[in-house]
Amino acid sequence: VPVEYPVLESCHVASYPDEFGGNNPIQCCPPYDLSQPLKIEPYAMPASPLRLRTRKAAHLLSQWEKDRFNRAISETKNLPSDHPWSFMQQARIHCAYCSGAYNQRNSDKLLQVHFSWLFLPWHRFYIYFFERILGKIIGDDSFALPFWNYDARDGMMFPDMYLNPSSSLYNPNRNRSHFRLPIDLRYAFDLEDGPPNTDPVEANLAYIRRIFTDSGPIPELFMGSPVRAGGVPNSRLMSGMLENLHNVVHNWVGLVEPPNLDMGNFFSAARDTLFYAHHANIDRLWTIYKSQTLGNQLEFNDRDWLNASFVFYDENEKVVSVTVRQCLNEMDMGYVYENVPIEYLTNNP
Ligand code: C2O
Repeated sequence: VPVEYPVLESCHVASYPDEFGGNNPIQCCPPYDLSQPLKIEPYAMPASPLRLRTRKAAHLLSQWEKDRFNRAISETKNLPSDHPWSFMQQARIHCAYCSGAYNQRNSDKLLQVHFSWLFLPWHRFYIYFFERILGKIIGDDSFALPFWNYDARDGMMFPDMYLNPSSSLYNPNRNRSHFRLPIDLRYAFDLEDGPPNTDPVEANLAYIRRIFTDSGPIPELFMGSPVRAGGVPNSRLMSGMLENLHNVVHNWVGLVEPPNLDMGNFFSAARDTLFYAHHANIDRLWTIYKSQTLGNQLEFNDRDWLNASFVFYDENEKVVSVTVRQCLNEMDMGYVYENVPIEYLTNNP
C-alpha cells in the first residue's frame, strides 16, 4: 500500500530538534479553511504548453532574468503570511511534510517525505507548484526557477544574486564564512579526504561522479529505498546517495549553531530562497541520472511508488492531490533544464 496524502484536518504541532536532541514545537499547518469540508481535487497536468519553462543555471542568468526572479519572490514575501502563495506559507509546506505535522493516514506514524524513494518526487512537485505560483504572480507563464549549478566548476559558489542584502533573494540566516568559497561537498560528512592537495573543486566533481558510478543502474542506491504505508524511513539506512549529497548543501548554507537556521533544519529550510535553486539542481541531477543510466526504464516499477500521493496548492489556490506517476517526465510537466556541460563526467578540464 502506498503512502497517501494525509487527512489535512489532522494537522498538528510539528517539532524540530535542537542541540540537546530536544523537541521544540513549531506550528506549520497550512491555512486551510476547515470551517467547511475541504475540497481536494485530483490534479490534472496542464496540456503541454507551447513554450517550456527553461530552468537555467543561477550563476548564468541575465540581469533581466535575475530581476524577474527577484520581483516574483518579493511579491510572495509581501503577501500576508497565511496566503497560499506567500513565501512563508510555501516554507511551511516543507515544514509540515518534513517536521512531522501530519500523521500518515490511518496510522499513528508521522508522515515524512525524506530518507526514502519519496524524497525526489515530493520535492519535484513542491518546487513545480512554487514555480507556477511565481509565474502566475508576475503574469509570466514562461517563468522558471534557476538551479544552483554546484556540479560545475564555475557554479560552486553561492550565486551572486543571493548575496545582495537589499535583494529579496537575500537571507540573513546563512553561514557568512562560506560566501566566497566554492562549496565543499564533503563538508560535515564522514568521507575520507581525497588524495592530498586535491583542489576542492575537483574533489567535488570526483565526489559527484562517484555517486553516479557507485549507484549505477540501481535506483534504490541513487534515489532512496522503498517506504510504504505505515512505514517509517530510517535516515541512515534508506536515503539515497543523491539525498545524502543534498544534505551537505543544506548544512553548508545554514548557520553552524543549532538549530542551524535556515537551510540546516527541515522546519526552516524553505525560508531561504536558495532552497529552491538547490532543489532545482537536485531535481536536475535526477533527470540526468534517469536519461543516462535508466534510459526508458521506470525508476521503480512498483505501485506503492507510482501511486504514492501528496497534496499541494496549485497556482489557482486550489488544494490538489498528485501521485508520483504524474511527475516522471519533466517535459510533460512543462519544464526543461538548460543544457550546460556535465563537468563531473570528465576528469580534468
Ligand atoms: Cu526537504 Cu532539501 O529538503
